[in-house]
Amino acid sequence: VTNPNNTENAKTKDLQSNTSDATDQPMTTNHGVKISDDQNSLKAGDRGPSLLEDFILREKITHFDHERIPERVVHARGSAAHGVFKVYQSQAALTKAGFLTNPDIETPVFVRFSTVAGSRGSSDLARDARGFAVKFYTQEGNFDLVGNNIPVFFIQDAIKFPDLIHAVKPEPDNEMPQAASAHDTFWDFISLLPESAHMITWVMSDRAIPRSYRMMEGFGVHTFRLVNAEGVSHFVKFHWKPLLGVHSIAWDEAQIISGKDPDFHRRDLWNAIESGSYPEWELGIQVVPEADEHKFDFDLLDPTKLIPEELVPVQRIGKMTLNRNPDNFFAETEQVAFHIGHIVPGIDFTNDPLLQGRLFSYTDTQLLRLGGPNFHEIPINRPIAPAHNNQRDGHMRQEINRGKASYHPNSLGGGCPFQSGKMQGGFTSYPERIDAHKVRERSPSFLDHFSQATLFYNSQSEPEKNHIIDAFSFELGKVQSVPIRERMLRILAKVDSGLATHVAYALRLHIPKQSNEPLNQAVPADAAPGSYEPVVK
Ligand code: HEM
Repeated sequence: VTNPNNTENAKTKDLQSNTSDATDQPMTTNHGVKISDDQNSLKAGDRGPSLLEDFILREKITHFDHERIPERVVHARGSAAHGVFKVYQSQAALTKAGFLTNPDIETPVFVRFSTVAGSRGSSDLARDARGFAVKFYTQEGNFDLVGNNIPVFFIQDAIKFPDLIHAVKPEPDNEMPQAASAHDTFWDFISLLPESAHMITWVMSDRAIPRSYRMMEGFGVHTFRLVNAEGVSHFVKFHWKPLLGVHSIAWDEAQIISGKDPDFHRRDLWNAIESGSYPEWELGIQVVPEADEHKFDFDLLDPTKLIPEELVPVQRIGKMTLNRNPDNFFAETEQVAFHIGHIVPGIDFTNDPLLQGRLFSYTDTQLLRLGGPNFHEIPINRPIAPAHNNQRDGHMRQEINRGKASYHPNSLGGGCPFQSGKMQGGFTSYPERIDAHKVRERSPSFLDHFSQATLFYNSQSEPEKNHIIDAFSFELGKVQSVPIRERMLRILAKVDSGLATHVAYALRLHIPKQSNEPLNQAVPADAAPGSYEPVVK
């Protein structure tokens, strides 16, 4: 059942004003002129040349010629669905965000799942991180939680993101391999980047081949802030916990399914929703008081680290249900524009340097991908909260602003003049005190790259560890360069000597004792696996 009435919400109703159904309607040009024949072009005689004056032919072909837009520079392959979110109990002690304080509010959401490296037409079953992007259409504006299904990331600083993506995408000379990390440029980069050790261990684990989007965890990755009505801030990590549990597919199965049905995850999500088996996730938070910021043996601002759940348990505070498939893939799934910078009062950023760089990247890329500054007006992107300001014009502007003034202050009417009463409740940034030198350096508190990789590896069962060993062996087995393989073995030896030994055996190589090629980050000599003291209960 598509769009049963009980799945309507404020956003799906809002979208209805833009939907159309041409069944039983006469065919017209884009300008409303009825067409008598759209199968034959206008010609000079039965067998003569087509005539330039054929506006019906020209319009049809021109529109077709312009149908494609650039695919996303990353996360190009994805699938999405509509749904709703409800908080279980007020979280007013932590945040003033309305959708997290009022259990009566049902907030519409649109969620897009994706792979990272592959192009739009690539297989769903590639070994890769999965995007888990949620747009909450709250009554106070849109809040986007743009996360992944792995709780940490490859790099600590956004300035390295173009390097990471250049390394992971198909190689520039021959555009191979498609949607796979098993190639030299990827492992060259990873082997030179010890900070990626934790993430790469996750990516070689079963987590990187989910059974279904419905059976995936989601993570906001960065530490964010929640800010309450009194202005008190807590650090927070966001989690999504699937009520179907976390399940994966074995590598060999994934290879077979990929060949038979590259749309496996897309089809699974679509069919589940069509049949009324609505996927559900609980929103979880790990909360750290400001005063405890420095009580961990890692830095909360470092996106290659998670907060172990034994130290700070995940509190489940609400539930999201996906209950409606999109009407149109392009209009909704392809045109949706998520941005980590879309936040609402009660939620704020931290100084995580990866988060800070992302704040620039998303709008910038969407200006290109969606063709100009008015993509916030595209139906799937526009908020259900009223939006007014003095921004004007630009390609494809839809809104017709009345009045002479489009500036502030103004006394002529129109525009958005300053109205002190109406500015109440506006977003104010958390007034964090900053007193520092401007430097282009990595914080020393970010330099332990291995403890949490070891922690993750040790958390795995024997079969899961074997899958990780097999994945490294397979992937590095595809790498042509022996020095790259050896550099990776050196990194693996710092994660776990057993892991490194097994992979070295599979590759018929020795683990190098010393390498002439330096690691490009200072790494504390043999950082010991973490010994964590619980600090927050
Ligand atoms: C797209 C997550 C890091 C740039 C996405 C999407 C997700 C995501 C889920 C897909 C959004 C969609 O479905 O439309 C993450 C996570 C990161 C991360 C969890 C690290 C924790 C970065 C960094 C940059 C970046 C560091 C750049 C500095 C982009 C760009 C897109 C994108 C340009 C395409 C957006 C579009 O065209 O709409 N990211 N990302 N990401 N990300 Fe990230």
